[in-house]
Amino acid sequence: GSTRHYHFDIKLKNITRLCRTKSIVAVNGKFPGPRVIAREGDRLVVKVVNHVPNNISIHWHGVRQLRSGWADGPSYITQCPIQTGQSYVYNFTISGQRGTLFWHAHFSWLRATVYGPLIILPKRNESYPFVKPYKEVPILFGEWFNADPEAVINQSLQTGAGPNVSDAYTLNGLPGPLYNCSSKDTYKLKVKPGKTYLLRLINAALNDELFFSIANHSFTVVEADAVYVKPFVTNTLVIAPGQTTNVLLKTKPQAPNATFFMLARPYFTGMGTFDNTTVAGVLEYETPSSSSSSISSKNRPLLKPGLPAINATNFVAKISSKFRSLATTRFPANVPQKVDKKFFFTVGLGSSPCPKNQTCQGPNGTKFAASMSNISFALPRTALLQSYFFAQSNRGYTTDFPAFPLHPFNYTGTPPNNTLVTNGTKVVVIPFNTSVEVVLQDTSILGAESHPLHLHGYNFYVVGQGFGNFDPNKDPAKFNLVDPVERNTVGVPSGGWVAIRFQADNPGVWLMHCHFDVHLSWGLRMAWIVSDGELPNQKLPPPPSDLPKC
Ligand code: C2O
Repeated sequence: GSTRHYHFDIKLKNITRLCRTKSIVAVNGKFPGPRVIAREGDRLVVKVVNHVPNNISIHWHGVRQLRSGWADGPSYITQCPIQTGQSYVYNFTISGQRGTLFWHAHFSWLRATVYGPLIILPKRNESYPFVKPYKEVPILFGEWFNADPEAVINQSLQTGAGPNVSDAYTLNGLPGPLYNCSSKDTYKLKVKPGKTYLLRLINAALNDELFFSIANHSFTVVEADAVYVKPFVTNTLVIAPGQTTNVLLKTKPQAPNATFFMLARPYFTGMGTFDNTTVAGVLEYETPSSSSSSISSKNRPLLKPGLPAINATNFVAKISSKFRSLATTRFPANVPQKVDKKFFFTVGLGSSPCPKNQTCQGPNGTKFAASMSNISFALPRTALLQSYFFAQSNRGYTTDFPAFPLHPFNYTGTPPNNTLVTNGTKVVVIPFNTSVEVVLQDTSILGAESHPLHLHGYNFYVVGQGFGNFDPNKDPAKFNLVDPVERNTVGVPSGGWVAIRFQADNPGVWLMHCHFDVHLSWGLRMAWIVSDGELPNQKLPPPPSDLPKC
């Protein structure tokens, strides 16, 4: 492969959306941020220079980072944040992956405006396992806040209340005509008839899974999280934050001047408020040059697609089960058939006590919290990977994250009286090349909700999912160990569970968390430490010299 250099200047930028002008943190003056393109096997060298008052770090979401954990990016996990005036060079090779991923800030809620596509093309002499598209189009879903996103989460953390919800969803940064004074800020996809377009869909929204559909069109899904899947056709998709989906869109053989709405709006089953608005973009067929009487686009009739109900959990379960690995000789599914170590983690909301002399606005005067296995993960003061690698005596974490919940209860039935979480920086340590199975169980402690769980440094196979409480005696018999989908982010079903497997062949410290930023900030995260293997190529090399210090 070749080496590709990028330069990211993190700077403030004035931008107007929904009739208000505000200053946002952005990369190279672009919103959404610049497109990063590489081929499988290439090395990416990205110099990030921080010119803003905020701390920041950049995460290459979904990149395996084989023995390059220092470039992964989550603040206080693999690196200290890049402070004002400082820089850091992310240097990593993309191996064994091709497809659509994205990059985003991994500090506080900066990813609200700091994100962009990361496109990995196949090696030069390799083709897609599907028809060659006429054109490739990245479509990023985002979430727009009129307020400063960092202020929104800081206020929630201080008062204990749910954060203010976003003011709009966006397609490639644009809210579209269903929002106040935003008709001119509408994403338009201009197409020719009778062609195949590859849409690279990326959900970069902060806190919402989204349904997406284009009126009178269907898609063929061909890839998820930069892994090819068995193609299937649907006219509606659901995509969680952190997930990417490639679909083929075949345009109609003839539709001169026709325009169709593409819409996205949330899937939501939780409690409390959410941004219940809809982003619209437009699919516009080109005007044939022969037609002199071309209707101006303003007067064209627009068709709106139907979307599932806001809480259509059954639709979500049905469509999720359609995602299957190709499982061919060229693209095999290397599902661990036997498991060395089993884990059972609960994921969900809870609460933490209100500090003395403070009034909290969360449930019953407490603060909202979120946890895995009832542990709300507290960020350490120094990056875990540094503490671990240099075996610092005051390492700031403990290795007692439990493999199974300490106090099991009926997770999807009546919630326990005690909703309090424990705070701690607890990790799981596993030896190199352990084959791991994790069952992720949603809890209904403060209401059942779907949680898009993301694992850094790995893809995993989604071997099973179901509603209610996971049954260790019955459910494993139904696991799919043949062609389960391989991904880096999976929705733990609302009121249900999901089982994943991965081979821990990448040494380092790897964050696993809910990709809703509100849950991430409330503590729904934990970390794995995967130790070095015996061989030289199974060890994590020392950090680059410019690794930021805390
Ligand atoms: Cu895209 Cu830790 O996240």
